[in-house]
Amino acid sequence: MLDDFHYYEPKQGHGLPHDPFNAIVGPRPIGWISSQSASGVLNLAPYSFFNAFNYIPPIVGFCSIGRKDSLNNIEATGEFAWNLATFELAAPMNQSCAPVGPEVDEFSLSGLTPAPSKVISVPRVAQTPVSFECKLTQVLQLQRADGQTVPSWLVLGEVVAVYIRRDLLKDGVYDTAAARPILRGGGPADYFELGNLFKMTRPQA
Ligand SMILES: Cc1cc2nc3c(=O)[nH]c(=O)nc-3n(C[C@H](O)[C@H](O)[C@H](O)COP(=O)(O)O)c2cc1C
Repeated sequence: MLDDFHYYEPKQGHGLPHDPFNAIVGPRPIGWISSQSASGVLNLAPYSFFNAFNYIPPIVGFCSIGRKDSLNNIEATGEFAWNLATFELAAPMNQSCAPVGPEVDEFSLSGLTPAPSKVISVPRVAQTPVSFECKLTQVLQLQRADGQTVPSWLVLGEVVAVYIRRDLLKDGVYDTAAARPILRGGGPADYFELGNLFKMTRPQA
């Protein structure tokens, strides 16, 4: 039976040409995170180890693999914005991941316009149809099963303000597909658009 499976224990390596882990846990939504340094330098970067974690209050989080500018800025200011990465914004989203120093503003590097936020002082991406303003709630350094820490930090934030372009609300219901979000696949260049919608209701108690 086990012969039907490629089995591996990650500590010993996967034995494949590419690590399948993030292709399996995929496609993933993109946390396109804007932040600002203590001295006011703007920053924008995509994070696909990103998701929503709670309804009330709404909480989102992303993982910084290594200490990156976004993490440093958010620790310094306690604020960040999340911006929806759409198909139309795929190229500037990709541009904003350039490994540049903290003095470089990826808004201008990617040809994007910062739009002022309302509750926080970090701007959002003016060109995106959906944004969240977030306040930092926790930074958790990840660890192995044996308790050994690893240089990865999960950044969690409460969503304190939401912007939705009106045309994405159909009779008041947010139309996920109409926004054309892009999703991250496993390979270095793999992205997905949304596929077919199907509906399934939960079993009744
Ligand atoms: C689609 C996409 C997803 C990414 N996801 C992550 C991620 O989840 N965690 C991470 O540490 N880096 C991720 N990266 C790489 C960062 O965007 C890159 O290191 C960037 O320079 C970090 O910017 P910063 O130093 O301004 O925060 C991703 C890059 C792309 C293009």
